[in-house]
Amino acid sequence: MVDISTRSCLTIILAAGDGKRMSSSLPKVLHAVAGLPMVCHVLDAAQEAGSNDCAVVVGSQSQRVCDVVQEHSEGATIHLQAERNGTAHAVLAARDAVEESHDDVVVLYGDVPLIKAETIIASREELARGTDIVVLGFHTDDPTGYGRLLVEDGQLAAIREHRDASAAEKKITFCNSGIMMFRARHMLTVLDAIKNDNSQGEYYLTDAVEVGRANGLAVTALDVPYEETMGVNDRLQLAEIEEIWQTNRRNSLMAAGVTMAAPSTVYLHHDTVIEKDAVLEPNVVFAAGVTVRERAIIRAFSHIEGADIGSDAQVGPFARLRPGTELAAMSKIGNFVEIKATSVGEGAKINHLSYVGNTTVGARANIGAGSITCNYDGFNKYHTVIGEGAFIGSNTALISPVVVGAYANTAAGSTISKDIPGDALAISRAKQVNLLGKAKTLREKYARIKAEKKK
Ligand code: UD1
Ligand code: CA
Repeated sequence: MVDISTRSCLTIILAAGDGKRMSSSLPKVLHAVAGLPMVCHVLDAAQEAGSNDCAVVVGSQSQRVCDVVQEHSEGATIHLQAERNGTAHAVLAARDAVEESHDDVVVLYGDVPLIKAETIIASREELARGTDIVVLGFHTDDPTGYGRLLVEDGQLAAIREHRDASAAEKKITFCNSGIMMFRARHMLTVLDAIKNDNSQGEYYLTDAVEVGRANGLAVTALDVPYEETMGVNDRLQLAEIEEIWQTNRRNSLMAAGVTMAAPSTVYLHHDTVIEKDAVLEPNVVFAAGVTVRERAIIRAFSHIEGADIGSDAQVGPFARLRPGTELAAMSKIGNFVEIKATSVGEGAKINHLSYVGNTTVGARANIGAGSITCNYDGFNKYHTVIGEGAFIGSNTALISPVVVGAYANTAAGSTISKDIPGDALAISRAKQVNLLGKAKTLREKYARIKAEKKK
């Protein structure tokens, strides 16, 4: 085994493409996969592969790309490729970064988001073994359009672009992904020697192979899974990449002990954490910032965002958890319940048709059907406290700020605007009056009016 931990690494991410086929006002590399901009997936893979520095090459008008990159990866540098003169020209836009003399330089693409850290690490190990240039290739039954990798005696001899390939070369199914790694010490010599005497008048990074070979460098191609090299040019490909990402993550969660009866209907966010023995029923959607702890059950058709769901808790079916939800162990959130900015104590239950916002719910409290917190007056939000073991009767309206003491009760249908001491019962509703025979009188009167209208 080679050790790359002592080697320093620069990653250059090309993100200068304009992405016309996305038909979008958003730069292509900012389109999200699992809720995270594609370029951030690439930054994460680079970092996970031990990259010390990241240089992102952007085109003109890419302030938004700069903002997102720098927010995501502090210390990443931005380099402008003002004119699009080819992939080698794009890499050289980051010349300053290359001159800082790292051991390895990895070239990735902001629109190829499924590249795995383990693949980058394997390539860097190849550099550590003495290879000067590593090209990532893939096999496909339909190589049309891709550069072909010409391998001779285990070395990569050249990359032949489709349009320049002979009939025999066109039959080669080993293709160039575009991703390349260099030993930094030779890199600038090689790139500076690349010419633009081709049909497109561009400086091709792929020419580094032939230039490198002519200079006696060792050049190798690694065969990597096609998926990891897939790029996004349009929304259809974006959806394909999303599906692959989702499938991979569902599979790794199941391998780690999460149960899903219908995995293809569960949508995960890039940061979703689910612990072992958790159960996800069909059609559950996770947005940002969710942790589901051991043995929790998320029932069908729940939408969950910014929530920490405790062990053995139960959520749904048809629950909506919004940011700031903290469910302690063994708590229960039932159907058609919305929770926001609320912590729910151990074993507490909010089982039917409730809205609970900006609230602290004590352990083992029970909130009855249809009860809601009135936490917003159109200007400000207020806090509600529901004490341990409190019982909130059905259809109670809690007008916050308000405190319900421990083991207090509210009578069904009450509107609570004043604090309730512990162990007290609060009733706030009109007294019931029974008017004997009145229903019959009204029924006969209304029937009469209807009959007269028909005449
Ligand atoms: C390139 C490879 C081809 C490979 C294919 C894989 C070359 C000459 N060919 O072809 O062998 O099979 O990718 O998809 O490299 N870019 C810039 N600035 C530029 C030019 C390109 O940032 O001046 C970026 C693009 O935004 C894109 C990437 O580099 O993300 C690849 O460039 P593109 O022109 O699409 O190369 P292909 O013709 O697809
Ligand atoms: Ca392309």
